[in-house]
Amino acid sequence: MEKVFIFDTTLRDGEQAPGFSMNINEKLIVAKQLARLGVDVIESGFAASSPGDFESVQRIAEEVKGPVIATLCRAVKKDIEIGAEAVKPAERKRIHTFIATSEIHMKYKLKMDPKEVLERAVEAVRFARNFTDDVEFSAEDATRSDLDFLCKVIEEVIKAGATTVNIPDTVGYAIPSEFKEKISYIMNKVPNIDMAVVSVHCHNDLGLAVANSLAAIEAGARQVECTINGIGERAGNAALEEIVMAIHTRRDHFSLTTGIRTQEIYKTSTLVSHITGVYVQPNKAIVGKNAFAHEAGIHQHGVLENPLTYEIMRPETVGFPSSRLVLGKHSGRHALKQKLEQLGFTDLTEEQLNRVFERFKKLADKKKEVLDDDILIIAQEELLSIPVKTYELDYIHTTSGNRLLPTATVRLKRGNEILQDSAIGDGPVDAAYKALDSITGIQGKLTSYQLRAVTQGKDAVGEVTVKVKFNGVEIVGKGSSVDVIEASVKAYINAVNKYLYRKELESQGYEISLYKEAI
Ligand code: KIV
Ligand code: ZN
Repeated sequence: MEKVFIFDTTLRDGEQAPGFSMNINEKLIVAKQLARLGVDVIESGFAASSPGDFESVQRIAEEVKGPVIATLCRAVKKDIEIGAEAVKPAERKRIHTFIATSEIHMKYKLKMDPKEVLERAVEAVRFARNFTDDVEFSAEDATRSDLDFLCKVIEEVIKAGATTVNIPDTVGYAIPSEFKEKISYIMNKVPNIDMAVVSVHCHNDLGLAVANSLAAIEAGARQVECTINGIGERAGNAALEEIVMAIHTRRDHFSLTTGIRTQEIYKTSTLVSHITGVYVQPNKAIVGKNAFAHEAGIHQHGVLENPLTYEIMRPETVGFPSSRLVLGKHSGRHALKQKLEQLGFTDLTEEQLNRVFERFKKLADKKKEVLDDDILIIAQEELLSIPVKTYELDYIHTTSGNRLLPTATVRLKRGNEILQDSAIGDGPVDAAYKALDSITGIQGKLTSYQLRAVTQGKDAVGEVTVKVKFNGVEIVGKGSSVDVIEASVKAYINAVNKYLYRKELESQGYEISLYKEAI
């Protein structure tokens, strides 16, 4: 079957959206997971946009093997030079350059006429070819561009050496049938179109990003640009998992394939949620908590008789944990290691494995059944943990009730030092956070607080995600425990530690992008 190339832009279009920032270490972890997932191209960032972005593109180019590593550049020589330098260490590298071709963008944003835009596009592609023979050109706002002008630009950039031409629906304006016609028109009208791969990049402003991408594939596009969980500017980009599973599940219709290892989808989705602190809605296709849940009795009965009655794909095909009882308090390190491997954690260090084991044992003591999702959360937390933790929780005691003044006493360890304070607040979590601020001497402003049960049942592990602003810098913190107050306190301490670690790096002269909100 013919292949559709999967171009993942989670680390560029996804990460540039407000609330989705990642630090370099986190981007590297996501990039390695994308490689395991089997994407063909990783758009690793916009190297020229900041020193922090440059560094993360370069680190990904150095360390991530398998996919092509791409960086986005405006059709500007300086951007292309910087981008080329950043992706230089990659085994396979791509420069992705773009300029807008719609009348509204050319007139009001670029203040250029169509002739100048055409020249700039051709020049940029030609210049980029000095650094790599894998050059992608994007005609920004293509779906609102004059179609014949768009065809002319595509023809000329292919002549100049573009090997992929991308037709973005930048503002999410297209309708599937109309988009399919446009792609067909381009395929028929551009004489040298067979010299390049036709790509699409759809935004989701009307909720049509995936439908538009699939319509374009039907018309002959062979690369789709997409993101994990559909994250991205405004309403996001086309969701990778939805496109891939549509092609996979309906191969009878598309007669196409992708290189994606579908069993890695769920893990990649939870990793991105975990890092960004933004969870997908329960009814989200493919990766939502309810995507494979059958509530209605008739459905349950049917599925028990034959899963295909109500399931068009099997949960295990996308790596969805079965939520079976996996391990108990008597399970050993070997069993845990095997379980972690099944869940895709094949490269944890001995030290990380030891810590996961220690936490698993503590959890198994408190909770009868330790489920796949519990293990997944612990392992992801360890994978993402920062190397220096200034504060550790030693003890927490809170009182609250509908006729009590909520109070909290918190004791922390800093090296050999024990630090303790108490506070009152609007609730036990508020009181604990006040006590923490007083101990650390750093005032944090809580901008977001989310609590979710990792699994079902009254003894479920609660996972808390906080966003806290310290001196104007927003940091994402995570904590989990069967006790939600403890999870809340751990999440806040995690944010404090990440902030202090970031300050430490800054004082050592590491550049941290001013554009990023979170470490
Ligand atoms: O949406 C868009 O047009 C883009 C391009 C830069 C590819 O992200
Ligand atoms: Zn975009």
